[in-house]
Amino acid sequence: MELKKALFNISALADLGEEITSEKNFREKLQSLLYVILGTFLASKGAITCQERSGDKIAFAARKGFDNLSLDNIDVAGIRAAVKNEPYSVNSDPALVKAGVQIVTPLWVRNEFIGTIMLSRKFTSEAYAPEDFELLRVIAHQVAITLNNRSLFMNLTEQLNDNRKLYEEMRKIYHDTLQAFAAAIDAKDVYTRHHSQRVARYSVAIARELGWSEHDIEGIYVAGFLHDVGKLAISNEILNKKTPFTPKEMEEVRRHSLLSYKIISHIKFPWKDVEKIVKHHHERPDGTGYPDALSRNDLSEGAKVLALADSFDAMTSKRAYRDKMDLREALDELSRCLNKQFDDKIMLAFCKVLDKEIRGDLPIPNILPHLDKDFDLSLITALLEGIIQELSDGNEKD
Ligand SMILES: [Fe+2]
Ligand SMILES: [Fe+2]
Repeated sequence: MELKKALFNISALADLGEEITSEKNFREKLQSLLYVILGTFLASKGAITCQERSGDKIAFAARKGFDNLSLDNIDVAGIRAAVKNEPYSVNSDPALVKAGVQIVTPLWVRNEFIGTIMLSRKFTSEAYAPEDFELLRVIAHQVAITLNNRSLFMNLTEQLNDNRKLYEEMRKIYHDTLQAFAAAIDAKDVYTRHHSQRVARYSVAIARELGWSEHDIEGIYVAGFLHDVGKLAISNEILNKKTPFTPKEMEEVRRHSLLSYKIISHIKFPWKDVEKIVKHHHERPDGTGYPDALSRNDLSEGAKVLALADSFDAMTSKRAYRDKMDLREALDELSRCLNKQFDDKIMLAFCKVLDKEIRGDLPIPNILPHLDKDFDLSLITALLEGIIQELSDGNEKD
């Protein structure tokens, strides 16, 4: 079931990935958007409806399932009277209940009622959690804005003239959806909340320091968000275990990077090698990593960046089986594992960017805001300078 869940999620994301790179009419785009929403919430049926141009009725703009739902029979006034853009559980409208609609979100932009998102129960039979409501609220807002363009309603099947604008809107939804997926991954493990987001930001900081192009930086950001998506297919019981893993459990947990790769290789990304970077985020320069035991020269720079960002966050976060390290301990640990687990060029970039952030030399810090602030400033800057000096000397000799 877990694997099915992950694949269902990702096939939806794959659809949307295709969407933003292809030219399709608006109705098809909405249909893809619906699939993403269904995937995100693990709902088997759903619909996006929109307010008709005249009168008080709403019509289907996209649907999956709900074949026996007639929108003529539902209480639209009741939906309009509910809190704007706030998902709620349906219990008083017999037509909705009978058709299996469980959650309705009335979509509003300012004072205009736009339509709704309707979802069935989850196919896992789990109840909708408070985080689901939170995510749905974010997504609803995006959908409402997208639907708000009046001209889109007038003829949904007509190609939009303003493709660029739509593309930008889809792109934004795509990014929000990625965030929603990352939240879903991190929610699996109470100890790794926001892990994917931090890894994405740390990777961006390192890549920028390495002088990557903005396009490639966006790619590693996405890779950071999705690197642990394969964990959706691994049981919570193992992931949240408070005692050390048995060899068998370790093997199971280690499957996640290959699973992440398999899952996201279906997605047509606008960026190069996202899936390969993700696949290799647990590889090590000394060749003892997994799943392919690649060595230094076979590893892409992206994989090395992601590996360091991932480990640094793991070290500085509390996990089920151990406490977190403070910044000094984490830097010592990274240094200790240099060349075995981490690449020295990446470590140099990481230390430089962290040093700049601590000195306030960067307008938008990506690492510092996520760290505990109780470190000894002079000790850390001295430590960073020492590492930078040593690694710079080493690089010169190369
Ligand atoms: Fe991982
Ligand atoms: Fe990770």
